[in-house]
Amino acid sequence: MNITVIGAGYVGLITAACFADLGNEVLCIEKRESTVNKLQKGESHIYEQGLTEILQKNLEEGRIRFTTNMEEAVKFSEVIFICVGTPQSDDGKADLSQVEEASRQIAEHLNGYKLIVEKSTVPVNTHQWVKKTIKRHAHEDAQFDVASNPEFLREGTGIYDFMNPDRIVVGAESDRAQVIFEELYAPFTKEGRPLLFTKPAAAELIKHASNSFLAMKISYINMISSLCEKVGVDVNTVAQGIGLDHRIGENFLNAGIGYGGSCFPKDVQAFIKIAEDHGLEFGLLKETEKINAFQKRSFLDKIEDILWINKDKNITVWGLAFKPETDDIREAPAIEITQELEKNGANLHLYDPEASDNFKNILAESDNVKYFEDKYDALKDADALLIITEWQEFKLADLKKVKELMRLPIIIDGRNIFGVDEMKEFEYYSVGR
Ligand SMILES: NC(=O)c1ccc[n+]([C@@H]2O[C@H](COP(=O)([O-])OP(=O)(O)OC[C@H]3O[C@@H](n4cnc5c(N)ncnc54)[C@H](O)[C@@H]3O)[C@@H](O)[C@H]2O)c1
Repeated sequence: MNITVIGAGYVGLITAACFADLGNEVLCIEKRESTVNKLQKGESHIYEQGLTEILQKNLEEGRIRFTTNMEEAVKFSEVIFICVGTPQSDDGKADLSQVEEASRQIAEHLNGYKLIVEKSTVPVNTHQWVKKTIKRHAHEDAQFDVASNPEFLREGTGIYDFMNPDRIVVGAESDRAQVIFEELYAPFTKEGRPLLFTKPAAAELIKHASNSFLAMKISYINMISSLCEKVGVDVNTVAQGIGLDHRIGENFLNAGIGYGGSCFPKDVQAFIKIAEDHGLEFGLLKETEKINAFQKRSFLDKIEDILWINKDKNITVWGLAFKPETDDIREAPAIEITQELEKNGANLHLYDPEASDNFKNILAESDNVKYFEDKYDALKDADALLIITEWQEFKLADLKKVKELMRLPIIIDGRNIFGVDEMKEFEYYSVGR
């Protein structure tokens, strides 16, 4: 099948590369010319495990191309995936200007029937606006369907998640659209993966409801972790004990410094606003946000309780990305934490396997902010090590070497990556233990 993908960000690029790898012919349109030039040479502008390999393979085999030309992109195929950004606007609602722009652009070049698919995360009933916008800007007898097919991949394991979906949710209104989706996702349904057809509004709602539920689960265990600290119980034991109940499940019960990233914060906020627009107060989600903000704040308080004075202390930070295996720093907890420590006059030694270049746009290198290429180099003469992202290489660190390099063996672990028992050689602090 020929497929057009609009937007070559985390979701668009993974979608385009995976559909190509499944044997489709894919044309991906991205408005940033420099990104298109890189991608066309097989260089990914984002870090995602396995992405460069799958991109290069499909470029070589001629199944994927990149362009900045919308006319070419729309005319290329019958199926058009909208994968543009839907960031948070100032009032907390989803900013849908990129979706509107893409809809207008599609409308201007419509030739024959098109299935236009929202893959971006959008508020419920956005499909009606997309439809209305296309109708307004297209020629009178334009034939098209608008469907919702939200994406559930996780950054860091995006390729794996796309190729191994728990479920595929499709909100489609016509039989014609449904048949196209059945063909498109046949490689997955043949393996027994569920393809759930719904109304477009339900599909849109499922995405916001899923992300908000996961954020709520994180805040729930984080609240339990605060209680654990007060009463002397290990939150990991509690998480294990409750997670073994299959009605609850053990995933997303890792206490830490809270969620960040390009999805949960904005999607929770947008979902609260959607409820508000319909006269409903989503108190559960407001509390979810409050607990999440508190986790970061209390981590900073913990640092101060332990180090007393931050000024002139050498503080090493391991992990800047919002989660491991990505270079994405959008809403990363490391931002608030490092900015506050810098303000307090600490000397920051920062290390992340992939996210340092992006982070330099937030916290520039200076006399007291240094970036390191190696996690051990960042530790030399440290008064404390903060662990902010749970990268695998931190879990595998040579703790003997860590101790030798540091001036004081103080570790404040925001992600509980070590067992308390293995850290007896350190002054070791973690979350909820
Ligand atoms: N990042 C994730 O893990 C994830 C997971 C599931 C869903 N989502 C949702 O998917 C959507 C995209 O997220 P993302 O992280 O990939 O965003 P992103 O900001 O990384 O990528 C969006 C890309 O679209 C391009 N773009 C915007 N308008 C365009 C246009 N008219 N023509 C061509 N290119 C255009 C931008 O230049 C940008 O490169 C969002 O709605 C997000 O909530 C994201």
